[in-house]
Amino acid sequence: MDQGDAPRRCRDTDCDEILRGLEASQKRLPSKFFYDERGSALFDRICELPEYYVTRTERAIMQAHAGEMAQMLGENVRLVEFGSGSSVKTRLLLDRLDTAAYIPVDISSEHLHRTARELAQTYPTLPIQPLVADFTEPLLLPEESSESRSTAVYFPGSTLGNFEPAPATALLRNIRALVGNDGGLLIGADLQKDQRELEAAYDDAAGVTAEFNLNLLAHLNRDYGATFQLDAFKHLARYNTRHGRIEMHLVAQAAHDFTIFGERFSMRADETIHTENSYKYTLESLSALACASGFAPGRTWTDPAQRFVVQWWRGRKQSQCMAQAA
Ligand code: TRP
Repeated sequence: MDQGDAPRRCRDTDCDEILRGLEASQKRLPSKFFYDERGSALFDRICELPEYYVTRTERAIMQAHAGEMAQMLGENVRLVEFGSGSSVKTRLLLDRLDTAAYIPVDISSEHLHRTARELAQTYPTLPIQPLVADFTEPLLLPEESSESRSTAVYFPGSTLGNFEPAPATALLRNIRALVGNDGGLLIGADLQKDQRELEAAYDDAAGVTAEFNLNLLAHLNRDYGATFQLDAFKHLARYNTRHGRIEMHLVAQAAHDFTIFGERFSMRADETIHTENSYKYTLESLSALACASGFAPGRTWTDPAQRFVVQWWRGRKQSQCMAQAA
């Protein structure tokens, strides 16, 4: 991997993002590189871990309240799901919803089309229009059928929490533009809680989350010719109380070098590469975010321990927003 003195010039945005992240004083790597095939399989295992309450809790909220949620979404709704994955929680909605069309949006084409085929077997009369797209970019939806009365977006999993505040607001404003005044957004978000509980959820005893974090380096070694030594790094998850977010890092166990795209980088002992944030909300901060993005926060559903929240945000005309927990 020795490229001589002349560093290879970046030809694409991946290379650019990676090098820019590693050149920063706090090194970072984009979290999208978690999700190669092995990473996606590890992520599915994370969702079933005893410490990872997120998936289980959101599923229970959906199971208990999907009927009410369907009522909020209204009749003949066109349902767009962001990051649909395997659409497990969506089935709970579709079972109760008067759906004009279902548009699952995911970046992984194979996963998306497999899921769409499976759903078509359960819902043979439902028009399913899978869309392979990066939902952080403005979306072009298929033509609306005459039956559909409104458009609603479903954005579960606290995926929102993996965005920095400014990009999160930008993404929510895109959603607002997509659904218009008559539509809305059904969103799942993780709530602030005891630090130990949060840190355990991202640093499980079986070490699956550690493997998931380290797999990012394995992915870069394989697909981008990087020379990370996986055993030179350790997984770290810690709650940053000031920012209200879980941070995941990879900590260098000793001083060493690695190369990627012909560039050499040095790690000091205990220096970290920051790989992910997961922002945790309060009911108030979530409602404020709704208002800042042009929505009015509506019905709120939580679990008895208030670990997680699913909230209905209605599209609204200007200046109708009250930033309070509904
Ligand atoms: N959005 C979820 C969360 O923040 C899922 C997730 C994204 C995740 N990246 C992760 C979970 C990394 C564990 C580790 O919890």
